[in-house]
Amino acid sequence: AGSVPYPVSTLKFTPVAKNLLDRVTVPEGYSVQVLYALGDPLHADVPAYANDGTDIDFHRRAGDHHDGMEYFGLSSDGRSRDDSNSTRALLAMNHEAITDQFLHVNGTTPNPRPKRQSDKEMLAHGISIVEIQRKASGRFATVQSSTYNRRITPLTPATFSGPVAGSFWVRTLHSPTGTACRGTINNCGTGKTPWGTLLSGEENWAGYFTRSSTDDAARTAKSVVALNRYGRSAGSPSRHGWETSGTEDKYRRFDISRTGTSNDGSDDYRNEINTFGYLVEVDPYDPKCVPVKHTAMGRFAHESAAFGLPVSGQPLVVYMGDDARNEYIYKFVSQAVWNPADATPADPLSVGRKYLGRGTLYVARFNADGSGDWIALTIDNSAIANYSGYKFVNQADVLIHARLAADAVGATKMDRPEWSAVHPITGEAYFTLTNNSNRQVTPSSSSHSTVDAANPRSYSDSYAGGEAGSPGNVNGHILRLRERNQRANATQFEWDIYVFGAEAGANKQLINLSSLTAERDFSSPDGLWFSQATGIGWIQTDDGAYTDVSNCMMLAALPGQVGDGDTRTLDHGSLSVQTPVGAPPTRAQMRRFLVGVRDCEITGCCETPDGRALFVNIQHPGESISSDTIGTPQAWSSHWPGRMGYGNGGSMARPRSATVVVTKDNGGLIGS
Ligand code: FEO
Ligand code: CA
Ligand code: CA
Ligand code: CA
Repeated sequence: AGSVPYPVSTLKFTPVAKNLLDRVTVPEGYSVQVLYALGDPLHADVPAYANDGTDIDFHRRAGDHHDGMEYFGLSSDGRSRDDSNSTRALLAMNHEAITDQFLHVNGTTPNPRPKRQSDKEMLAHGISIVEIQRKASGRFATVQSSTYNRRITPLTPATFSGPVAGSFWVRTLHSPTGTACRGTINNCGTGKTPWGTLLSGEENWAGYFTRSSTDDAARTAKSVVALNRYGRSAGSPSRHGWETSGTEDKYRRFDISRTGTSNDGSDDYRNEINTFGYLVEVDPYDPKCVPVKHTAMGRFAHESAAFGLPVSGQPLVVYMGDDARNEYIYKFVSQAVWNPADATPADPLSVGRKYLGRGTLYVARFNADGSGDWIALTIDNSAIANYSGYKFVNQADVLIHARLAADAVGATKMDRPEWSAVHPITGEAYFTLTNNSNRQVTPSSSSHSTVDAANPRSYSDSYAGGEAGSPGNVNGHILRLRERNQRANATQFEWDIYVFGAEAGANKQLINLSSLTAERDFSSPDGLWFSQATGIGWIQTDDGAYTDVSNCMMLAALPGQVGDGDTRTLDHGSLSVQTPVGAPPTRAQMRRFLVGVRDCEITGCCETPDGRALFVNIQHPGESISSDTIGTPQAWSSHWPGRMGYGNGGSMARPRSATVVVTKDNGGLIGS
């Protein structure tokens, strides 16, 4: 990291201690402000949030479970895009999911779900665009009357780009031609395109749909294979039971059991599920734009979308993860080559179609010697064309069932790929692998994988002390790769494991391989984002293993590059695994910067272009309540941010997901 020419080349702030407080803790000399919480009004005529379960109109308020987030600068007069403005901007963010109990007065009513509750829950999902301004006091505020403010929900009309558009698999009662769809669900990570638009990843969309226990008999064998592979076996219940609220289309669409007689599904809802699972592009500067789902980038549980450094005359590359146990790492390479004139387009979504509508989807295979291969997922790849597990018929079929195509080519099954991020100087791609309870030295079922070089840890076999009883890779790791000859469209790369999550006291031979100390130990990395202003990599956690000791957290990191470490051998007894490991981060290179509130996840990060304000999302505080009845406020684990004086509620307030702004009291660069 010493060679990285950034304003911040050595971390100097006082590390934040692990803690279980119900507040956001940051280093001495820094301040935290709550900016935008669940239910905050987005229009002048929307009443303040009552936060007692009576609020409605979530399509005109902040949604729940704030997640990935990007900053889009506005000109000082607010009329147009200005990437360099640090005082006036749009924040675009995902609202991944809901803590549904707190949205209702007395908790959640079981199936059949009341319409009123289902309507509210649907609209609390999706995406927000909200204008923010920095006041003379230095504090930020949302602009409630801004004409840019917008919510995109599971009901918002959307469209497709790429080979899946108009294909057999997306013909629905809503759009018999398969050209239109409705809404977006479970939006998790984000990306910012080189032309100034938002990409939003649809992650755990499959769980919102139900399929009857007798539906297998009504479908083709091939359709059953595909649905099972994406987690919708016959009889799977839906997460929220919205389909039980009525026969109206907006409820009924969440039951994908076959009821029609057509060959292509255009007379029922069986294909509704195929309209989700994409990266969705939104132009935040155009509140009327129709979101575009880019099908050439594949359909899976999308997290973030990280662009490689654009090079004039070369294709663009986007790195992506599929977050489920033993799923894969992907990249998309555009067919069009980058033209820098497209950075400030008149019609951004047509530029989006140009670069993201056509290209090649690759999946990663990691070899034990530190090399790797990108394998193209195309219908003319013989391993795909001749796959015994599923008969692919065309490229739309390959893309919509990318997981099956990746199975066919023997890609490496990973420990739950969450976010990807690209280092702004080295161009190396980083991937968080959050954890994997289905990783075993000797797999006990077909849903488990053995340890390998890229996923070398499993605690159940030989771990002494720590997470006893928690099988698999409990703490996760961060992997990075460098494309061969640094070409976006390379089919080979070199890789190593940048850092292993671990408790500081854990065994250094098998678990704490990066020698983490108490000022930087962490578990379950998830969000990952590099600051353009400082070069700092921000690592965010979504942890269940170390939460007995600390709430989820965010660390600052100044990584070196692939190959700066050594090869380690992990002796699992019956099996030993060699893996390339980066140099252990030093005190100057990694420290804990922030600890969140109780039972939250830290996710989503962006900054003002001057690097002097950092925006961070605090997701689902207090979500530990396990029953549909919310009980008494005294039983809730969090009352943030109400207890800190934000909004209605006070010390016994219902917890709310929220965006916070971190600033340095002397106005300096964040992390310096
Ligand atoms: Fe929504 Fe995989 O995090
Ligand atoms: Ca995540
Ligand atoms: Ca996670
Ligand atoms: Ca979460």
